[in-house]
Formats: sequence, C-alpha cells, structure tokens
Amino acid sequence: MHTMTDPEDNWLWIIGPGAIGRLLAASLMAARQRELREQGASALPRVLLLGRQAMAGQAVMLDMTTPESLIVSSRINHSTIDTLQDSSFRKPSAIWLTTKAHGVPAVWQQLAPHITPETPVTCWQNGLSAQPWLAERHANLLCASTTEGAWLPAETGASTTPDNGSTADDLQHLGVQHAGRGHTWLGAWQSGGDGDHDSQSNQAALMQGDWLKAAGFACEQTPDIQTRLWHKLAINAAINPLVARYRIRNGQLRDRPFAPMVRQAVEEISAVLDSEGIPAPEEGWQALVEQVIRATANNRASMLQDVLAGRPTEVEAILGPLRSTAARHGLALPLLDDLYRQLSTPQR
Ligand SMILES: NC(=O)c1ccc[n+]([C@@H]2O[C@H](COP(=O)([O-])OP(=O)(O)OC[C@H]3O[C@@H](n4cnc5c(N)ncnc54)[C@H](OP(=O)(O)O)[C@@H]3O)[C@@H](O)[C@H]2O)c1
Repeated sequence: MHTMTDPEDNWLWIIGPGAIGRLLAASLMAARQRELREQGASALPRVLLLGRQAMAGQAVMLDMTTPESLIVSSRINHSTIDTLQDSSFRKPSAIWLTTKAHGVPAVWQQLAPHITPETPVTCWQNGLSAQPWLAERHANLLCASTTEGAWLPAETGASTTPDNGSTADDLQHLGVQHAGRGHTWLGAWQSGGDGDHDSQSNQAALMQGDWLKAAGFACEQTPDIQTRLWHKLAINAAINPLVARYRIRNGQLRDRPFAPMVRQAVEEISAVLDSEGIPAPEEGWQALVEQVIRATANNRASMLQDVLAGRPTEVEAILGPLRSTAARHGLALPLLDDLYRQLSTPQR
C-alpha cells in the first residue's frame, strides 16, 4: 500500500449507485471485510454510497453476483446527495463519481460546497465530456477508464422496506451483476508525465490503484489517461451509436448493411484521432473494433438500453468530443453527424 490512513478516517464517497458504482462499492467492501477478518486491520477505505433516491435506512445490503455466479453481500452506508449539508458526514479522503457523464454537473453543484480543493475526485465516465468539464472546476482530478462490465438486475428497487426495529438482515437490498472482468486504467487528468510522481493527483492515483487491486480488479496507473480515454471513446463511438440507432446487438454489426457503416465510422473516427495526434493501437483501429465486436457479439450496449428505456444516452459524451475536434481540424463526419442528430432527438 502506498499510504496508510487511519481506517476510521478513511472514507471513500461513491456518488452514483448504479451498475459501476455498486460493483466498485461491493468489491471494495468485500475486500475490506476479508482483510479485517484475516489480518485484524485494513487500509482500504469505508464506503459511503451516495445516490439521489432515498433508501429505507442509513445502510443497504449490496448483493453482487460475480462472473462465476457467486453472490457476495456487503453492508454499505448509504445516503442521498441532498443530505450532504448534515455535518455528521465524515469528510472523504477520496470521491469517485459513477453517474453517467450527463449527471456530473448536477452532482458537482451539490458536492462542491462540501469538499476541499485537495480532495481527490475520480471520474469513472465513458466519453470525454465530464472530465474536461470537471477539470475546469477542480484541480485534483483523476480519471479511470475501465472495461469491467456490470449491470443492474431488473428486480432492483423492489426490495423490502425495513421498519425501525429492523436488523441488518432486513436492510434494503440492492443488486448488481458483475458481467465480465476487464482492465482499469487510472491516472491524473493533468499529469506532468513520467517525472511528475509527486503531484497530489499522481499520489492519489497510486493509492487508489492499490485499493482497486486489493478489491480484485486488474488495474494499472498511467501517466497519460487522456489517451486511454480517447481510445475507449473511439471504440464506443464506432459501436454504440450504430447499435443504438438500429436497435441491434453488437454482433449484428458484422452483417450487411451494418458492416460497411462500421468501416465508415472507424475511418471518420481515426481521421479525427490522427489529426489530434492520438496514437493508433498497434493492430490498427479497424482490427481493434472488429475484435471488440466479436468479443461482445451478444451484448446490448448501454446506449441501446438507454434508448429502449427512453433514458438520456451518453451520445454527447461520446460523439460530442469527436465532432468538436473534427470541426477544429476542418474534417467532415457525415455518418457520425447523422447518428448524433438521430440519437439526440427523442427516440420512440
Ligand atoms: N456499466 C458498465 O459496465 C460500465 C463500464 C464502463 C464504464 N461505464 C461508465 O460508467 C458510468 C456509469 O455507468 P453505469 O452503467 O453505472 O450507469 P447507471 O447504472 O445508470 O448508474 C448511474 C447512477 O448514477 C445515479 N445518479 C444520477 N444522477 C445522480 C445525482 N445527481 N446524484 C447521485 N446519483 C446520481 C443514478 O441514479 P438514478 O437511479 O436515480 O438514476 C444511477 O444510480 C457511465 O459513464 C458509463 O459509460 C459503465
């Protein structure tokens, strides 16, 4: 571990108790409980899960189903973000934002008055809209880019409501399915490069990387998280808008009429990334996107699920940065612009 903090004072606030937030919270708390049982101490933080919907008590039981179909249950402190003004909350040693990208400004408005400029805040969003937006408002900013997969079981929210005399066993249950293991990159948004090991944000990234590894995630720190975020954005941009627009599973992108559209999307995306000096992956963009489509053939992308459920999508976070960069370099994006327009108008 890079830094030992008094565990009593070591609180991690995870804001956005959705799929990724619950996965991270459940995995960290399970690891902390294991360390406490086996070693009598743990340097892992306690977790406070903050959402916008009230739960029946001040804690919930988080039931995580692992990719191996085991159920791991952890008791986790929970509160709503609009109660942050209560002085009873321990100040956090770190904050992880796990809402969708478009949720970050509203969270920040409620969060900013209650934290110091030194508090490390980590963005877990896909795309590249929340991160630069927050970087203008908070200096100690970290970003994570993950290929872990998680989703919420349909029954979530239908759990029992405990009365006042309830025991821990009666706590409201929240579920999360850890669908597939992946890889997580973590780094300071503003990194001075390899030599800048001492910055607050780089120190925080080292410590948070340790937390993630202890919680069972494959995780690496990087001095260049922005390139990682662009790479994830490129893959998301080649797949998600098409499957959301045509309401298909990822694997159907290999068939006509979609395969040529994927190729065109990748050409448009790679031209933008080239113009911005973002290095291409070794195997090339087309091969990498084909590989991801093969590996996720049966998936229904979250953007498609959002469209089907009538929820806002992350289209702005994913296509927005490509469109603004293309405009700056005078590049045309006929397919991506068309998808952006179609997905930005309410879908039926
Ligand atoms: N799921 C994955 O496998 C995965 C993988 C890699 C990256 N990501 C990225 O991680 C981010 C989160 O994705 P997700 O799948 O976890 O989304 P999600 O399941 O929709 O979770 C988002 C959570 O944020 C909460 N929220 C929204 N606004 C809030 C506010 N103002 N205050 C507190 N909580 C608020 C939502 O609460 P409500 O229930 O009230 O709406 C919901 O619980 C996205 O950027 C996504 O692209 C996800």
